[in-house]
Amino acid sequence: MNNIALITGVTGQDGSYLAEFLLAQGYEVHGLIRRHSTQNTERIDHILEGPYNGTKFFLHYADTTDSSGLIRLVSEIKPTEVYNLAAQSHVGISFEVPEYTAEATGVSTLKLLEAVRMFGGSCRYYQASTSELFGGIPETAPQSEKTPFYPKSPYGAAKLYSYWITVNYRESYNMFACNGILFNHESPRRGENFVTRKITLAIANILAGKQEKLSLGNMNAKRDWGFAGDYVKGMWLMLQQDKPGDYVLATNETHTVREFVEAAFGQCGIEIKWEGEGVNEKGIDAKTGRVLVDVNPQFYRPAEVEFLWGDCTKAETELGWKRDVDFKGLVAMMMDSDLKEIAGMTCEEYKAKN
Ligand code: NAP
Ligand code: GDD
Repeated sequence: MNNIALITGVTGQDGSYLAEFLLAQGYEVHGLIRRHSTQNTERIDHILEGPYNGTKFFLHYADTTDSSGLIRLVSEIKPTEVYNLAAQSHVGISFEVPEYTAEATGVSTLKLLEAVRMFGGSCRYYQASTSELFGGIPETAPQSEKTPFYPKSPYGAAKLYSYWITVNYRESYNMFACNGILFNHESPRRGENFVTRKITLAIANILAGKQEKLSLGNMNAKRDWGFAGDYVKGMWLMLQQDKPGDYVLATNETHTVREFVEAAFGQCGIEIKWEGEGVNEKGIDAKTGRVLVDVNPQFYRPAEVEFLWGDCTKAETELGWKRDVDFKGLVAMMMDSDLKEIAGMTCEEYKAKN
């Protein structure tokens, strides 16, 4: 049987890594893209420019809020696996656009599940669930598949609906539908307004003399940060099992935003010392005394998930999933990539010069 995948969110961080991974496994890959007023394919341009385009890799215009398009795609493509990665995925912004987030991140999941149930035959289904579901339960850590949910944002609440409707379709219609409860995963392709990429991009700009300082919100928040390239393998593994299930993917390590800042500057040979507290906190270059980091309450959220730390024992044991990149490796990869793009040199080269 030919393996045919349909990926929603193919232009996003995870969609681009997943498309690469599935093509390397010999899949025919179909990606759903939205119409934009400007071209929006930078994360997959290298695939579009390669030999897979038009032979194994195909893009289709649709929108996951539009069920007729989903029905058309599922019935025409006849995928053997559907990966539902599309979402309004920014937690902070979900407070600004809560209703749209409910549609795009919540109800759209139902529309796609219905399309698969009606026209997908024995197609397997992956739902991009999230550690944001755990939200406000810091006393239960590390968090596993057994930890209760308590979302703290319109995004988290929409993803909660998506999680349960996926479980419901599995139980009601015997569909092979899985939730990947993924903790934060990052990469050089991470959107520029997520905190890790905001940090590495700002540091590269500061070192290139193009930005004065980095302004952040809550630096005490703790996250379990892994590498997106490792996590897409886990998504695929979930759909290769005998039985469908729900799995946490995480690194089992947690760090504050402040620690990420320190590690990223440290990668370039700059030691940060901290002064002040709360909105008055400043990150200062220990050698020169220059203020490189400050706090801007504009980046605080109305409600915050303070602490995420994942236990991925089930995925390791049942799927045989493992990670190749640790926290230090992730910071180095992202810092190198942004510095190279902006200043034309790696962190090692920068350190050698300064
Ligand atoms: P991302 O970079 O923000 O990508 C989101 C993708 O969804 C983009 O391709 C976007 O298309 C598409 N999209 C959004 N609304 C859509 C709509 N109405 N119709 C069609 N496509 C739409 O997100 P990501 O980091 O790759 O994450 C992938 C998924 O995993 C998301 O569902 C996210 O919520 C979830 N997740 C992510 C993490 C993480 O740490 N990265 C952790 C847990 C769960 P455009 O390019 O057109 O905007
Ligand atoms: N984005 C952002 N910008 N976050 C900041 C900033 C800032 O300037 N300053 C501090 N933070 C804090 C946020 O308040 C949050 O506690 C933490 O940094 C991480 O924020 P994000 O990188 O925006 O990610 P997230 O954890 O809210 O959500 C990401 O991970 C989820 C999985 O846990 C997204 O990828 C979600 O889609 C995903 O579900």
